[in-house]
Amino acid sequence: MRLIGEVEIEGLEKLKSGKVREMFSYNNEILIVTTDRISAFDYILPTLIPLKGIILNQISVFWFHFLNNIMGNHLLETDVDAFPKTLRKHKEMLKGRSVLVKRAKIYPIECVVRGYITGSGWEEYKQSGKIGDLKLPRNLKNCDKLPEPIFTPSTKEVSGHDVGITINKAKKIFGAKVIDVMMEKSIELYKQAADYALKRGIIIADTKFEFGAVDNQTILVDEVLTPDSSRFWPLDAYEPGRQQKSFDKQFVRDYLLSTDWDRNSAPPELPEEIRQKTSQRYMTAYEKLTGKKFRWK
Ligand SMILES: Nc1ncnc2c1ncn2[C@@H]1O[C@H](COP(=O)(O)OP(=O)(O)OP(=O)(O)O)[C@@H](O)[C@H]1O
Ligand SMILES: [Mg+2]
Repeated sequence: MRLIGEVEIEGLEKLKSGKVREMFSYNNEILIVTTDRISAFDYILPTLIPLKGIILNQISVFWFHFLNNIMGNHLLETDVDAFPKTLRKHKEMLKGRSVLVKRAKIYPIECVVRGYITGSGWEEYKQSGKIGDLKLPRNLKNCDKLPEPIFTPSTKEVSGHDVGITINKAKKIFGAKVIDVMMEKSIELYKQAADYALKRGIIIADTKFEFGAVDNQTILVDEVLTPDSSRFWPLDAYEPGRQQKSFDKQFVRDYLLSTDWDRNSAPPELPEEIRQKTSQRYMTAYEKLTGKKFRWK
């Protein structure tokens, strides 16, 4: 098994390199490759996690299919053996971790849905009792379940952190009709996924969707309901009023906090044990969610 940290493909233009994924232009389409990189505290760590890119990609593909009854998506091909010949040449590198997708015109809005209150939403609520322009019940505790999932969009910023935007303001900028559709779809997608995951022992506390347009149709794009775009909490350890254990990165965070790293400089390597445990954790997330054994050779 090969670990993939950086990806270059001869003859293909790299459109973007995110913290974890790399996007390439392929004719009118896009090739998304998920690497084995991991980030924590907003830094890309120097250590690669075995199988992580493959697992993450498989989780996203699983959800795209699972949610297909609600909305079409950008997937064109997920099987490297069925990729065009020029890409098949790179099969060893691309296998399991890459998808060919329709190139969409992206709506520059991160469609955040929260079923539970935590993170930046919790910080905002503590200050104002609201998130964006949504007034919430009083006396919520950190990580409490919300009466209903809420839509709290943010704008997509080219650099740095995305910035929250009220629904009213988003409607003024992008048009009420578009925002209404994204809001309705985002909540429907979240509910169907969260109900399912809960039965399998995982709380999806919140997540972020992106939508795009292809031939005047709105479709679901990017990655869907992965640990990178969502908060997954193990149900059996859930207890409101405190921080929850993150399903995937807890070992990594705990380890980093136990070192003398100042979180303001290049992060250290992870020890082998943490690396293996983290890989195992991603595998468990995959198996719990899909109900399938993760097999890889
Ligand atoms: N089908 C698609 N067509 C066009 N662009 C897409 C499509 N799917 C995803 N994208 C875009 O590709 C980019 C993926 O970037 P990526 O998520 O790797 O980096 P990022 O969001 O800047 O950073 P981070 O690593 O923190 O997520 C996003 O800008 C997303 O909107
Ligand atoms: Mg992203």
